[in-house]
Amino acid sequence: MSGVVGRRADLPSTFAPLLIDWQRRAGRSGLPWQGIRDPYRVWLSEVMLQQTQVSTVLSYYARFLDRFPDVHALAAAEADEVMALWSGLGYYSRARNLHRCAQAVVNSHGGEFPSTAAGLETLPGIGASTAAAIASFCFGERVSIVDGNVRRVLTRLLAFEGDLAQATPQRELWDIAQALLPINPSADDMTAYTQGLMDLGATVCTRSRPACGQCPMQGICRARQSGDPQRFPVKTRTLKRRHESWWLLLLRLGGERDRFWLQRRPASGIWASLFCLPVYGHEDDARSALPPASADALVPLDAVSHSLTHRELRLHPLLLELDVEPEPAVWPDGQWVDAALLDQYGLPAPVKLLLQRLMEPDLFAPAKTRGS
Ligand code: ADE
Repeated sequence: MSGVVGRRADLPSTFAPLLIDWQRRAGRSGLPWQGIRDPYRVWLSEVMLQQTQVSTVLSYYARFLDRFPDVHALAAAEADEVMALWSGLGYYSRARNLHRCAQAVVNSHGGEFPSTAAGLETLPGIGASTAAAIASFCFGERVSIVDGNVRRVLTRLLAFEGDLAQATPQRELWDIAQALLPINPSADDMTAYTQGLMDLGATVCTRSRPACGQCPMQGICRARQSGDPQRFPVKTRTLKRRHESWWLLLLRLGGERDRFWLQRRPASGIWASLFCLPVYGHEDDARSALPPASADALVPLDAVSHSLTHRELRLHPLLLELDVEPEPAVWPDGQWVDAALLDQYGLPAPVKLLLQRLMEPDLFAPAKTRGS
């Protein structure tokens, strides 16, 4: 059923008007990227909001715009500075693509973002759903987003049994999303509709314990009628994360001001190109990287768990306090970084947290980090 352009008889025609009305009454409002049609700002917010909660994004968004008020400023920046401002948000390929995308807009599009979803999708890091969000918010294009939240809303609305790990059901749901769009919407209608899809998935039609009693779709939702809304989307495969333990050498050089030994990670793989403590796959390897007397002085700190898309990491920091700079440096490609300047370095979230805790132990309660 690809290529659907009109409304299908088996789809509820009230979905779009109910959603628009609900968003205007009860949806989220007042977020800094709402009520604007500037593609640079909307694009930045959408990339930050992929896999990251609104509450976390707010301060990053403000800092980014402060430093890079337009696409030209971002395109002209050093990659390391972009990574440093992104540090802690996780999923660092987003930051690398953000920078590349800004450069593509400046170098190949005269500094103007394309004004259609199809044009936006040709840019680095802009997938179909992000392109649709930007095009509908900024240009009023009649095109549907289909991100994880929307998949949940639509599969429940229709009690859709397809396996979304497969290409054909995925395409079918995309066609359904297009067929459910409002008819002849104004630009403001498209904004409310797109925001409504996001808001409904994030605040009402949640993964666990959906608030069906507050849902504007409760009269037409087939999953609710079935009595088991959480059965949708149908899961046929669960992602298995591989468990791995890493040992991190945490060398702190005392003196007037603390300094830490950081190395740049390889250009590909986990935490690619970020600055990090030296990483070892085995405790013995970490210890034997040091002279025996130093290895004996290593203090194991509490381990930290950290989830990545395909990995479950258990991080074991090993602290070594030094009074004088070791000579010669034990590792190539590393540097002593002044604790006060750590903000200028792109660090993986758990490493950043670990260093912050070490400097200000009273401020931090134990935490489990995720996603970067
Ligand atoms: N998640 C993705 N895009 C969003 C937006 N525009 N507002 C709130 N949450 C979002």
